[in-house]
Amino acid sequence: MDPANPPHPMGTESAPWWTSAVVYQVYPRSFQDCDGDGIGDLGGVLQRLDHLADLGVDVLWLSPVYPSPQADNGYDISDYEGIDPLFGTQAQLDELIAALHGRGMRLVMDLVVNHTSDEHPWFVESRSSPSSPKRDWYWWRPPRGRFAAGTPGAEPTNWQSAFSGPAWTLDEASGEYYLHLFTRKQPDLNWENPEVRQAIYAMMRRWLDRGVDGFRMDVINMISKDVADDGHLHDGPPIPGTGLGDGSASYICGPRIHEFLQEMHREVFSGRDAALLTVGEMPGVTIEQAKLFTDPARAEVDMVFQFEHVNLDQGSSKWDVRPLRLRNLKASFGRWQAGLADVGWNSLYWDNHDQPRAVSRFGDDSPAFRRDSATCLATLLHLHRGTPYVYQGEELGMANFPFASVDEFRDVESVNHFGAAMVAGQDPTAVLAAMRRMSRDNARTPVQWDASPSAGFTTGTSWLPVNPDHVEWNAAAQRDDPTSVLAHYRRLIALRHENPVVALGDFAMLLPEHEHVYAFTRTLDSQVLLVVCNVGATPYELSALLPRANGATLLLGNLPDAAATLRPWEARVLQLS
Ligand code: NOJ
Repeated sequence: MDPANPPHPMGTESAPWWTSAVVYQVYPRSFQDCDGDGIGDLGGVLQRLDHLADLGVDVLWLSPVYPSPQADNGYDISDYEGIDPLFGTQAQLDELIAALHGRGMRLVMDLVVNHTSDEHPWFVESRSSPSSPKRDWYWWRPPRGRFAAGTPGAEPTNWQSAFSGPAWTLDEASGEYYLHLFTRKQPDLNWENPEVRQAIYAMMRRWLDRGVDGFRMDVINMISKDVADDGHLHDGPPIPGTGLGDGSASYICGPRIHEFLQEMHREVFSGRDAALLTVGEMPGVTIEQAKLFTDPARAEVDMVFQFEHVNLDQGSSKWDVRPLRLRNLKASFGRWQAGLADVGWNSLYWDNHDQPRAVSRFGDDSPAFRRDSATCLATLLHLHRGTPYVYQGEELGMANFPFASVDEFRDVESVNHFGAAMVAGQDPTAVLAAMRRMSRDNARTPVQWDASPSAGFTTGTSWLPVNPDHVEWNAAAQRDDPTSVLAHYRRLIALRHENPVVALGDFAMLLPEHEHVYAFTRTLDSQVLLVVCNVGATPYELSALLPRANGATLLLGNLPDAAATLRPWEARVLQLS
């Protein structure tokens, strides 16, 4: 080794495979229906693998297909080892693994182990009696102090659940409450109990033995709760107007989280982790914590999903929608790039099944700028350091749905929010307006495959309506069009595969205060890329902004014929040396 020039910590030789990979998320219920019941399924995923191969993605992350009462669209699991008949069969899952591997792609399954369904046999047993051997597998607590069970305020803590209302539900039979950070049909597992952990690890090993290539771990930084020696859980600061409190300090990156993830790694991944991808979904994670979670030397997870950038257009809650200031986005992404530059790794995403559509939220989905803003945002994100995730339909420029009334929403979060807001006396028109922008259902309308009445998604009636704009915005129309959003995603993915600087180059932010232009460099050895994105409708003279751009070679752009002016929503990737 040349001491004056030590190898890059993520050197091109030693970098893990997922540093140059792109992941595609399938939300199966809305991807493709093959049996005409209006709900997407595994048969549908199998039918559409050519789309993924054509795009060039390396990994398919499959949102949950396990047996589930579907209270939260499969994030409420009643059997970790099966396949819900709604989605297909075990044989089809095996077929999917084989078909992906045959095409050089990998399969990452969703792992939802902060909670189970209340219909999971573990919870059914736990609930059956306070003396059940599985009672301690969940969080059971008596009513608070002198309160009678069921009276307001008797909940063991004041925590609000993620989907409105208290995080505790009374079990009438025993007079005790159980904890659920999400809906009442999603009781939290007690990770303090070693039997729980071992049961989960055994289940994970069986999935790996079956051929899956890793896990996307649902709210995994919430599994460790801050519990006092006497079993007491702590109230959180009050949330104005709700009568409830914010308990997150007691369960976001709780006291034993690193211990649990290291144990999981030892018990499940060790010896085979090089071929796998593990990504922890971590609401509220800080850069310092993310570094610990993803430091390879600590053997926890490969990368995290952090939430800072998707919280920038929000005030006190996700329904309190604020304009995004580009300089805040730069400051946030810039901090994460710097924070994980030497140790650790990040995931890059705009969209997933929990976020509204990026082109509507951060771009401009009006006819004039929809294509250009979708490709501009994609370029901005994919040229950062980290592993990009593409959410189904994002590669087509799919936009938010024009919800007209509250009855059109299906998502438990949206439905509960509307109910709670009405009880609190809020203006229904304003509440609906916020839901139209932020509801998770925006991401969940069926993928738009073609211009036919059901967009090629189903021969039946789709569970959520197809966006009427599918007649124009669909995969069939874009597949052979080199100017399409789809073609641009294909080029971005190929760029990452072909250029180590895209995967591994150092990141430096430029023009941090500029309100509309997002620019940065990526540098690896002697190669320097300059990325310039006009995040808005005002044109700029490029050479006045960034003299270095003069004479640079255009590697990839989203508009034809590079001009002296950086046009509205134009993005360029330039090679400087
Ligand atoms: C995060 C998932 O992405 C979301 O869809 C789900 O509702 C919650 N975790 C609870 O599992």
